[in-house]
Amino acid sequence: MRLKLGEIVPRPLDVVPVVALVFFEPSTRTRFSFEMAAQRLGVKTVSFVADASTSVAKGESLHETLQTLIAMRPDLLVVRHSGDRAVEYLLKTTATPIINAGNGVEEHPTQALLDAMTIFERKKKLEGEKILFIGDVEHSRVARSDRSLFLKMGAEVAVCAPKRFAPKTLDWLETKQFSSLSEGLKWCTVCVGLRIQKERHQNVESGVSNEYIENFRLDKKNLSNLNSEAIIMHPGPFVDGVDLNHEILNDPRCVIHEQVTNGVYMRMAVMGDIFGVSYS
Ligand code: NCD
Repeated sequence: MRLKLGEIVPRPLDVVPVVALVFFEPSTRTRFSFEMAAQRLGVKTVSFVADASTSVAKGESLHETLQTLIAMRPDLLVVRHSGDRAVEYLLKTTATPIINAGNGVEEHPTQALLDAMTIFERKKKLEGEKILFIGDVEHSRVARSDRSLFLKMGAEVAVCAPKRFAPKTLDWLETKQFSSLSEGLKWCTVCVGLRIQKERHQNVESGVSNEYIENFRLDKKNLSNLNSEAIIMHPGPFVDGVDLNHEILNDPRCVIHEQVTNGVYMRMAVMGDIFGVSYS
């Protein structure tokens, strides 16, 4: 039987689904987390990373690479890319189910879900929580997806960023801004550190000055302004000494590794929902 692209492949129910993990950008925790989640659910994975061993290195376009992988008919695609328009278009038009694992500066929905889960576990609610994003908010897809989910859940959101990294897109227009980190940390119940996204910088200065470190780094000194009941988050990866100092990993308010653990459970829930399987 010949199938047209976009048709769902009929398969017997006893055949284990195969998830294609397609990462056109670097990733440690997101890719591994999807892989762990799939293994825990008992579904199979195949992984594509755009490196020197693939046809991307021979000059094949990302669009054609993705089209080729789709033609192999995975049951689900998990895709990360830098915001390539042709890839975006293909993802919007294919019939294969897709989970967005991060697209350019735009969205990272499963990160938002696992972040909400982590806040919920610690604070028992999101409603009324005061969430502060610190650092390169403008280029952060995590902050963008978090913001949209947290507001829906009734939280308040604010930003503390230098001018070059303050969000300029319309979605952030009415967001409270703190120019002083100590003021922001006194206000919030959840603070979220962010890595400087230098791979996404066009027309902005990426460099890290002592002033940036002094004013925006999560370290012992700055965190002395944070309430004892508040929590410290970061989606990772972090650059030690720049967006945070590793000393804070031992702070009982720090939930960075809980976020990673919750990522696996959340991705199990999302993929499990798609395949109609659950894990107990
Ligand atoms: C983030 C990403 O890729 O958007 N990391 C992640 O998925 N946990 C943040 C970053 O790279 O700084």
